[in-house]
Amino acid sequence: MQINGQTKVVGLIGDPVCHSLSPAMHNAAYQAMGLNYVYVPCQVAAAQLPAAVIALRALAFGGANVTVPYKEAVIPYLDNLDWSAKRYGAVNTIVNRSGTLTGYNTDGEGFIDSLRESGFTPDGKKAVILGAGGSARAIAVALLDNGAEIILINRTRAKAQLVADSLHPPKKASILALTPGTKPEISGAHLIVNTLSVSFRHGNNWLLDLSPAQGALFYDLRYGKMSSDFLVYAAELKSPGLNGLGMLLHQGARAFQLFTGQAAPLQIMREFCK
Ligand code: ATR
Repeated sequence: MQINGQTKVVGLIGDPVCHSLSPAMHNAAYQAMGLNYVYVPCQVAAAQLPAAVIALRALAFGGANVTVPYKEAVIPYLDNLDWSAKRYGAVNTIVNRSGTLTGYNTDGEGFIDSLRESGFTPDGKKAVILGAGGSARAIAVALLDNGAEIILINRTRAKAQLVADSLHPPKKASILALTPGTKPEISGAHLIVNTLSVSFRHGNNWLLDLSPAQGALFYDLRYGKMSSDFLVYAAELKSPGLNGLGMLLHQGARAFQLFTGQAAPLQIMREFCK
């Protein structure tokens, strides 16, 4: 990579950013495409978030990805929101066009791209989402918009209700408590998406009995060690499993296209999502 006076800088804003796979993935893609871009991690403390966004303009960054915990907090500092950012209520990609900052969300469609790539079509399918945080909400929106029906399972029922109520236009989402015991309501589910921030292993047991959905696609939004318990459980149920690397790849590919105006070199980027 040759940095010179014309190099366009793209950043990753978040806290922490040190373990992110995105800088290596995007830089390899720029290199493969012969694009004069560089992608740099920018660890930003919460109090500095407004200044960091202003700096994107001041320093003429081409844009930035936004990661936890700022995907919602960054919104008030942007000039425009694309439909995707409005739909998801969160921004993971900012594009700077001559000083005007527009927020996009590529997470939801990146998730759907990864499902389709694995051969799973959401339309008409029954999907179960474990958890009710920001990730669960994004997955719920993406699945509903792509024709699936959803069941939310969460420890705190009120938080699942908040997610269900936030879906516009109001769509039907059933809610179940995350308690031990079998849940006949999930029988026949085609997809289980785990967004929980805790291990699926609970001492010597599993957190939940999902056996009525045996044969469904078990998708953990995380990757690496964090996803392994859920995928071991899927294997015990002789069900297919996926981790979050496919979503990482596809949200990154969509962001690449927004930053550069060119189709992303998926095979190059995929090397960093293994
Ligand atoms: P994200 O933004 O990635 O979605 P989050 O908002 O922290 O993450 O959400 C974490 C999810 O893990 C929540 O659904 C949370 O359940 P509550 O809504 O009841 O808090 C769930 N979670 C966290 N710790 C848990 C635990 N010990 N047992 C069961 N669920 C847990």
